[in-house]
Amino acid sequence: MSGNDAVRFDGVVKRHGALAALKGVNFSIQPGEFFALLGPSGSGKSTTLRLMAGLDQPSEGRILFDGADVTAREAQDRDVAMVFQSYALYPHMTVGQNIAFPLEMAKVPKAQIVPQVAEAARKVSIGHLLDRKPGQLSGGQQQRCALARAIVRKANLFLLDEPLSNLDAKLRLETRAELKKLQRDLAVTTVYVTHDQEEALTLADRMAVFMDGEIVQIGTPAEVFARPNSLQVAGFIGSPPMNLMRAAVRGGAVTLAGQPMPVKLPARADGEVILGVRPSAVRLGREGVPVTVELVENLGDSAIAELAFADGTARARLSDAAVVTEGQHLSMSFAAKDIHLFDPATGARVEPE
Ligand SMILES: Nc1ncnc2c1ncn2[C@@H]1O[C@H](COP(=O)(O)OP(=O)(O)OP(=O)(O)O)[C@@H](O)[C@H]1O
Ligand SMILES: [Mg+2]
Repeated sequence: MSGNDAVRFDGVVKRHGALAALKGVNFSIQPGEFFALLGPSGSGKSTTLRLMAGLDQPSEGRILFDGADVTAREAQDRDVAMVFQSYALYPHMTVGQNIAFPLEMAKVPKAQIVPQVAEAARKVSIGHLLDRKPGQLSGGQQQRCALARAIVRKANLFLLDEPLSNLDAKLRLETRAELKKLQRDLAVTTVYVTHDQEEALTLADRMAVFMDGEIVQIGTPAEVFARPNSLQVAGFIGSPPMNLMRAAVRGGAVTLAGQPMPVKLPARADGEVILGVRPSAVRLGREGVPVTVELVENLGDSAIAELAFADGTARARLSDAAVVTEGQHLSMSFAAKDIHLFDPATGARVEPE
C-alpha cells in the first residue's frame, strides 16, 4: 500500500464558455472504495467523471491518481474502464467480440483473450450469450455486457455513469445488488454517478453530494442521511423528503405553530429557524401540533399521511395505513433526536444546545 488516495481532485474547475459546470471541486477516494457522485440533473456529476476518465480537461486545478498528477494524461494512458448510461456496445459485433474488444486493442494474444472473455462474462452471468448481437439482448443483458467489457480490462479504476438507468424497476434492484457484490469481489476502486439517492445510499461506501457545480457534502450514506449539513441536502436525501417547516425562536425556545419543541437555541437571536423532521420520525397522537389528516397513501407495507397544520403541511410515514383516516384530527410531535435545524437565511445546519 502506498498510502495515497486512489483519486484526488484538487480545486477542479470546468468551464464551458461562460458557464462553470464545476466551480472548484475537492475530494479524495480511497483505494477499493465504492464512491458515489449524487446530485440533481445538471449538477456536474458526469463532468466530474469525464474529467477523471481524461475525456475532458479541467479549466483549473489538478487530478491525481495514487499520488501522481494525471491532469494532462491522455484517456488511454489512465488505466480506467468506463461504463456509460448508453452502453455504447458495437451493434455489428457479438457479445463475445464486444467484450474482447479492449483486449484486442491492447494486442493481447488470441489464446489469452478467449478465457479472459469467458471469465468476465461468467462474472456477470452472460456466459451463455457470447454469440448473440447486442440487439438480441435485453437492457439488463446489454448492461452486463458493458460491465464485462470493463471488467476484462482489469483497470485500476471503474467509472460508471448511471449504468442502471435504462433498466426497469425490478431489474434495476437485482442488478444493483449484483453490482455491489461484483465490486466487492473485484475490490476495484469504483466511482458511480447517479441522481437516484436510493442507489447511492445502498451502493456507496461514501458519497459526494453535488449541487450546481459544487460538492455540498461528503460522507458515508449513513452520515449524510443522519446529519445533512444544509437545507439543500436535507431536502434532497430521503424519500419522501424531510419535512421542512418554519418555526419561531424566542429567547432560545423553539415553537412550531405556537407549540413548544423539545430543542433549545440559546445562542440565537429571536426570529425563525427551519425545523426538519423526516416523515418516518413524525409521531401522531394527542400531543404537540394539531393536524388534520388530508390524504392517506397506502404503499402496501406502509403508508404516507399528508397532514395540514396551522402553518403548513407535513408528511408522516406510518407502518400501517389503517391507523389513521382522512379528515381525522390528531396532533404531531417529534423527539429531540429527530429534529434537524437550519438557518433560513443561509440554509446551513444549526446545532441545538
Ligand atoms: N459540452 C458542454 N458544453 C456546454 N455545457 C455543458 C457541456 N457539458 C455539460 N455542460 C453543462 O454543465 C452542467 C453540468 O453537466 P453534467 O453533464 O455534468 O450534469 P450531470 O450532473 O451529469 O446531470 P445529469 O444527471 O442530467 O446527467 C450542465 O449545466 C450542463 O448543461
Ligand atoms: Mg450526467
